[in-house]
Amino acid sequence: MKKARQFPPIIARFPHFLHGGDYNPDQWIKWKDEIWKEDMRLAKLAGINSLSVGIFAWAALEPREGEYQFDWLDEVMGMMADNGMIAVLATPSGARPAWMSQKYPEVLRVNASRQRSLHGERHNHCLSSPVYREKVKAMNTRLAGRYKEHPALGVWHVSNEYGGECHCPLCQEKFRSWLKQRYKTLDALNEAWWTAFWSHTYTDWSQIESPSPIGELNTHGLNLDWKRFTTEQFVDFYLHETAPLKEITPAVPCTTNLMGTYPGIDYFRLAEVLDLVSWDNYPQWTGGPKDIEIGIRTSFAHDLTRSLKGKPFMLMESSPSATNWRPVAKLHRPNVHMLQSMQAVAHGSDTVQYFQFRKSRGASEKFHGSVVDHEGTENTRVFRDVAAVGERLKTMDAVIGTGTPSAVAVIYDWHVRWALEDVKGFLQKNTRYQEAVIDHYRAFWQLGIPVDIIDQSIIGQSIAGQSRGLEGYDLVIAPMLYLLRPGFAEAVDGFVKNGGVFAATYGTGWAGESDLVFRGGVPGPLRKCLGVWCEEIDALYPEDRNSILWEGRRYEAFDFCELIHAESAEVLGTYGSDFYAGRPALTVNRCGSGRAFFIAARTGQDFLGDFYARLSRECGVKPALENPLPSGVTAQVRSGGGSEHIFVMNFTPEKKTVDPGAPGKKELEPYETWIIERKV
Ligand code: GLA
Ligand code: ZN
Repeated sequence: MKKARQFPPIIARFPHFLHGGDYNPDQWIKWKDEIWKEDMRLAKLAGINSLSVGIFAWAALEPREGEYQFDWLDEVMGMMADNGMIAVLATPSGARPAWMSQKYPEVLRVNASRQRSLHGERHNHCLSSPVYREKVKAMNTRLAGRYKEHPALGVWHVSNEYGGECHCPLCQEKFRSWLKQRYKTLDALNEAWWTAFWSHTYTDWSQIESPSPIGELNTHGLNLDWKRFTTEQFVDFYLHETAPLKEITPAVPCTTNLMGTYPGIDYFRLAEVLDLVSWDNYPQWTGGPKDIEIGIRTSFAHDLTRSLKGKPFMLMESSPSATNWRPVAKLHRPNVHMLQSMQAVAHGSDTVQYFQFRKSRGASEKFHGSVVDHEGTENTRVFRDVAAVGERLKTMDAVIGTGTPSAVAVIYDWHVRWALEDVKGFLQKNTRYQEAVIDHYRAFWQLGIPVDIIDQSIIGQSIAGQSRGLEGYDLVIAPMLYLLRPGFAEAVDGFVKNGGVFAATYGTGWAGESDLVFRGGVPGPLRKCLGVWCEEIDALYPEDRNSILWEGRRYEAFDFCELIHAESAEVLGTYGSDFYAGRPALTVNRCGSGRAFFIAARTGQDFLGDFYARLSRECGVKPALENPLPSGVTAQVRSGGGSEHIFVMNFTPEKKTVDPGAPGKKELEPYETWIIERKV
């Protein structure tokens, strides 16, 4: 097992798990004497030591323009301090008050069809609007000034779930300035976007418009740059929001809550400006065999979130029971709440937080799971489930700040995802990039091998003075790495020459960063390192099947089969049928002291399981437990500070027997989590 790093606790003075979550006392101001006091009593009973406050409280904090009311929040913060709790204090920019939309319509977003929205909902502000920015700055400056010395203040929760995009005239202007910075000349932009096609050449910057269903959707370079720009809008807005917080409370960490694999923002880029990453996790548990797959996808999202900064993160929200916005709001089965909470910790979270503490009485979330139900007491099953998590977390201080010893990295890159969503050809809208990445990830999950999820920006990055890059890994996997960013192929080359093992698949190395296809053959700048040339790619109908013959076994191939030539690579497996039967389908190229594998077709889990089990063995990559795990059970590790915690988790509704060697076999109950502590 690799050595993991030990990190400081999120809040230096509080080396314990934060357990708590969204709390909206502003909905109960009228009933505060009865409700707030009771909330504190119930929170303590549930082992809750932290609450996130003020997330959607703008109308309560500034009921009329320039008229601020902090008394109620003073009282809430005071109550928390009196009870030894940590406040995760929010800036309220996630939802603005009605007076603002009415007086300043420029704060309202414009959609891609160029319609301005009416007031309502949330997360729908124009991020370019000078008025909105000014109001946010005024609010955040007051919040920071007022609570800077407050004993409860622990973390800043900046806004809420940044997302969406705005196409208003102010944003169009900003987009054009951003493009001018990026390309310097219109000529360079026209070339990058290949605008000679269909006479799309721009002759003046003012002709450029963001992608729109009533305008341009087929200039792929434009689409990509619009997505990159939208990410930069959020980066810029976050920096704007946090400027007063950083100035007034420099020691308080800032984060904003992310949403796993949300498509609209490149989270690797956004994470660069966060002090730490946090996210909101709402798996759709079924109570049946599908929970294995849900467990895998949830693990993937946790690993992705942790890897954004390569250090422990915050589980900012999760439901203690049903999730109201899912089509079926099924209850958590016994043990599932504990499993979901421990799963986050197993993958690197130093908090377990919920949405929400007390259930609201009206509007759209009145039936969302919460710690305290409308009934109002501690005598509920869900409350007991939450309290049990609180009890367990109290015994787990040794896990705080421990790292994840991943020797394997799987690449998941938003830019690749965006480019593949646009592809006309192959399987068009059905390329299933994210699914392909998870297919590779799934093999390691079942083996109980810890994995980092990285993107191409990892080259040249450093966190807390330590460089990241590919060098820290033994095995780097690139499923469908269609778009190669500048410098990445060279980094892979160096990694392999120095002894690393790299595995890429069909769909890799087709285009550069503005989605212009490489001349000189696919996989472009990776051709030498992989030792293959892909002459054509065959897209199959859903019912079509081919196969890969490898080591005397036949594995199904479907969706994509690349017709490759092994140039310097050695052929390990071949196609089983069709006009390309017998041609290479699996290759390895030796390069320096490392190896580069190429998997030319999409395969099922049987192949990926066998292939990665073997590759891991060959590379000396060790699973968390020596003995194989039963299906649907994974083991994940956190290590640091001289000990190692292995989280053995059963994602099935059945009993499963696990044999970890020492300390002996154990039969896990349905959905049980077993934590094994070892000295290292
Ligand atoms: C999101 C939001 C919360 C709440 C929950 C409900 O994560 O951040 O405010 O709406 O969903 O699941
Ligand atoms: Zn706008």
